[in-house]
Amino acid sequence: MSLPILITGSKGQLGSELRILSKRFHDYQFTCIDVLELNLTNQNKVDAYLQQLKPSVIINCAAYTAVDKAEEEPEKAFALNSDAVGHLARYAVSSGALLIHISTDFVFDGKHKIPYTEEDTPHPLSVYGQSKLKGEDQIRESGCNAIIIRTSWLYSAFGNNFVKTILAKGRERGMLDVVSDQTGSPTYAYDLALLILTLLPKFMLKEGFHLYHFANEGAVTWFDLAIHTFRISGKRYEVHPIPSKSFPSLATRPKYSVLDKTKIKTEFGIKIPGWEDSLRKCVKQLTY
Ligand SMILES: NC(=O)c1ccc[n+]([C@@H]2O[C@H](COP(=O)([O-])OP(=O)(O)OC[C@H]3O[C@@H](n4cnc5c(N)ncnc54)[C@H](OP(=O)(O)O)[C@@H]3O)[C@@H](O)[C@H]2O)c1
Repeated sequence: MSLPILITGSKGQLGSELRILSKRFHDYQFTCIDVLELNLTNQNKVDAYLQQLKPSVIINCAAYTAVDKAEEEPEKAFALNSDAVGHLARYAVSSGALLIHISTDFVFDGKHKIPYTEEDTPHPLSVYGQSKLKGEDQIRESGCNAIIIRTSWLYSAFGNNFVKTILAKGRERGMLDVVSDQTGSPTYAYDLALLILTLLPKFMLKEGFHLYHFANEGAVTWFDLAIHTFRISGKRYEVHPIPSKSFPSLATRPKYSVLDKTKIKTEFGIKIPGWEDSLRKCVKQLTY
């Protein structure tokens, strides 16, 4: 009998990529849900659902990801990114299931000049970052078998993200101002989804708590990312670099949040695609 695996947040960016890719992985019985099927903040419903499905692995892609809005409604961000995560972790403890959870570069404050490793001390600048860090802590403290993968600057043909937004704004205005003093590593959600599904057998052999960083290779500013997105799509929209202070937002973002991926690469012997190659794949999917 194939192993039951639950994917939450399966209509989001990463969850959609996992849902589609999972059809190629026949050794598992995937159940893909989103908030309409199960609101993860309703603990009684979550208990009943998990008792019935009895997943051996939960891949939790559900999250409150509205970084600026989180500043105005912290209780909602913490309810999903922390409390609900803790509840999934308690199920994992009692059932022996593996919890694979996604976290963020926004747990760091961006004061580094070199990529952040898993050993570096988090210091989130925003409510979103704090709520995600508390989710990580809940998992660690529960004692469940867990893999946490911190990633950064996710984009995909599905859901909302910077790449889709600037393509739409470029079409609308022909000219854009884009922040040029924040540096990070864009991550194609497809690459992360493929990594998770490919490494599943290895993840399942691991016991205890494991934290990894994953993003596409390389680092850019949002300005660079905009330029390359337009170049790949064949558009000649004008892009002007601006400092973050000219683009006020409710949440403070780290100026530098490049993740060091040495641990995941050496432990599993993987090669990670460069950000430009992956961006090309996604933009082609969006524009052709
Ligand atoms: N996006 C990024 O740039 C980024 C960067 C680093 C790390 N991450 C992390 O990567 C993971 C995946 O991110 P993503 O960009 O794929 O997220 P996403 O596109 O926002 O997807 C999250 C999904 O969770 C669902 N959801 C919301 N509230 C829920 C609830 N109460 N119960 C169950 N499901 C609920 C959302 O539904 P609705 O859309 O209907 O609300 C959405 O389908 C998250 O853990 C995120 O924190 C993201």
